[in-house]
Amino acid sequence: MDARLPLIRNVLMERNRSLAELTTFGLPACAEHFVSCTSVEEVREALEWQRSKEVPLHVLGGGSNVLLAADLPGLVLRTAMEGVEELSREGGRIRVKVGAGVPWHAFVMTALERGWYGLENLSLIPGSTGAGPMQNIGAYGVELEERFASLEAVDVSTGEATQFSHSDCAFGYRESVFKRALKGRFIITSVTFELLESPALRLDYGAIRSELEEMKIQEPTPRDVSDAVIRIRRSKLPDPAVLGNAGSFFKNPVVADDVARTLKEKHPDMPHYPAPGGVKLAAGWLIDRSGWKGHDRGTHGVHDRQALVLVNKGGAKGSELLTLAKDVQDDVHARFGVALEREVNVLPVEAG
Ligand code: EPU
Repeated sequence: MDARLPLIRNVLMERNRSLAELTTFGLPACAEHFVSCTSVEEVREALEWQRSKEVPLHVLGGGSNVLLAADLPGLVLRTAMEGVEELSREGGRIRVKVGAGVPWHAFVMTALERGWYGLENLSLIPGSTGAGPMQNIGAYGVELEERFASLEAVDVSTGEATQFSHSDCAFGYRESVFKRALKGRFIITSVTFELLESPALRLDYGAIRSELEEMKIQEPTPRDVSDAVIRIRRSKLPDPAVLGNAGSFFKNPVVADDVARTLKEKHPDMPHYPAPGGVKLAAGWLIDRSGWKGHDRGTHGVHDRQALVLVNKGGAKGSELLTLAKDVQDDVHARFGVALEREVNVLPVEAG
């Protein structure tokens, strides 16, 4: 039987589509129905179909921050809008609109080539541009929200396109309104950034300076900073093309001042950073100190160079990775009294 069925007008629908190669974890799971949408119009058509059939909807972007725990019933809608467009220039700031499906790192490289600055520190983050605002991606002292202007999203229940300003998004550390109050209610179709004509380098994150020193660079350009970030990431984080993973599996926990004080007394070498609402601890350090770094369960385990990353070594199931994650969470809680929250999104949602 032909697995491809025409949907309404333009959109092709696939049935029982494997999703393993569309996610960086590479876990086995199928979509009952699957569409890849390259325009707002196609998103609307797919949503019309989904509403008329009254089936569950799951949205997939670049697939780099998702754990597939089981097959997905209903419709999986993948956002694949292309395009990088300069909208305007004013006062040294350049507005650039990017399709949600554009791979994030490809966009960062395009920005560097065009002389649009401010995203260097976010080089080599996997995933699509549309997924960036969802969890306010961040690395090496910079978060996406600092260069964010607005985004367009389609309302899942009405099919209407809506614009979200910076404040509408309620950004926080790996957080936005799309992970909280509006979870599952909008599909991001494009993101507009405000980038800089003149470089404004951010070297405050220690590892960048030491990497630049090692590269023997004294007066770095934005390209040098990007290269340094790429070198650091390659040395610590596994390449999803080689070893399945979804980057940091847990968020760095923020604890109350008194909790942090007690922990620091017991563990003077524990990394800690001031944060809104308390003190941010390094989940990777807590997991490492609990003895999990390099933990091996045959098909899956904990990465041996960064304890915050869980890996699929080949043939693992999503449910097994969730069990490992729970074991890590329970053990860290028993040893340090700190609760680790997942950073990765689990699909189907109820399985999380
Ligand atoms: N650490 C250990 N052992 C480990 C890992 C870390 O002791 O196995 C210690 C490090 O020595 C350091 C501290 O923990 O003192 C923090 O480590 P690192 O600077 O590597 O950063 P991270 O907190 O582990 C966060 C982000 C990463 C981001 C880096 C760099 C989160 C959840 N993770 O990791 O983001 O690349 O900072 O900015 O915030 C991602 O979100 O997928 C991701 C990779």
